[in-house]
Amino acid sequence: MKYLITGAGGQLGMEWVQYAQANDLSFSSYTSTELDITDEKQVAEAFRNLSPDVVINCAAYTKVDLAEKEIQKAYSVNAGGVKNLASACNKVGAKLVHFSTDYVFSGVITDKETYPGGYPEDAGCNPINVYGESKREGEILLQQHLSDFLLIRVSWLCGQFGSNFVKTMLRLAENRNEISVVDDQFGSPSYAFDVVEKTDRLIKRSAIGMYHISSYGMLSWADYAEEIFRQMRLTIKVKRISSSQYPLDANRPAYSLLCNKKMENAGIKPLDWKDGLSQLLQQIMDEKK
Ligand SMILES: NC(=O)c1ccc[n+]([C@@H]2O[C@H](COP(=O)([O-])OP(=O)(O)OC[C@H]3O[C@@H](n4cnc5c(N)ncnc54)[C@H](OP(=O)(O)O)[C@@H]3O)[C@@H](O)[C@H]2O)c1
Repeated sequence: MKYLITGAGGQLGMEWVQYAQANDLSFSSYTSTELDITDEKQVAEAFRNLSPDVVINCAAYTKVDLAEKEIQKAYSVNAGGVKNLASACNKVGAKLVHFSTDYVFSGVITDKETYPGGYPEDAGCNPINVYGESKREGEILLQQHLSDFLLIRVSWLCGQFGSNFVKTMLRLAENRNEISVVDDQFGSPSYAFDVVEKTDRLIKRSAIGMYHISSYGMLSWADYAEEIFRQMRLTIKVKRISSSQYPLDANRPAYSLLCNKKMENAGIKPLDWKDGLSQLLQQIMDEKK
């Protein structure tokens, strides 16, 4: 089975490349400069050269706040780019594995009661920022243009590569004793290594459709920061603040827990969020050695 990985220079893309190397997969990977998914011709040429069986799309416009201004750019990558890949996969009979986000949900706090175990895959989507809207549009186009797809929604993605919340907290801890972190947004992290491994299990079972892959447990960003410092044995005080005390250009969902039941019913057990964190911290420490 030949894999083609797009967005290979990003957080998840680099994780896929490392996994593919470690597991002897037959693969070709392309960074954004090597393959621009918004360019239909480039996509067609890459498909002609490689004849992939599985396309792993890690390319995305992920600048959540900037997207409020760069609306067209966000849509062109997160919707237009996905349509290009889906159409190209359709032509050559390849499967498209695409990643989306918890930000497709409105995340109103009352949904904590409506969906106490997290949003299931078929819950209604109503994004509250441009990034979420553009990702939702990509989901819709994917399903319209291809039947052999895996659409994997992840949340609070953190891995050893690129930048993410865990790495930001560790960096800030280098010269601060106290860090303010929002305490009114609830969800659960997806760990890049876990997402890649679980997704590949789904691919190997020829699974089709939409799956949520995040960790077991619900927490706020402040809870997450405290656990990072506890596991790292760092004496940093986490000052719990509200989102209104940390204004950003894009609105964030107050509740965006993803329900992992569908994956669990397929026999793939979710990782506990604290166990996942400990594995990730180990990876980050090993990388520093
Ligand atoms: N990060 C999170 O917290 C989070 C949460 C939920 C879901 N997700 C989803 O998970 C997936 C992976 O996210 P990530 O954290 O790995 O994002 P990332 O680190 O920002 O990586 C995205 C990659 O896509 C590339 N890219 C951008 N435009 C492209 C284009 N037109 N053609 C080809 N490549 C392009 C970027 O390259 P440049 O850097 O050169 O632009 C970057 O290398 C995305 O679908 C994202 O929406 C992420």
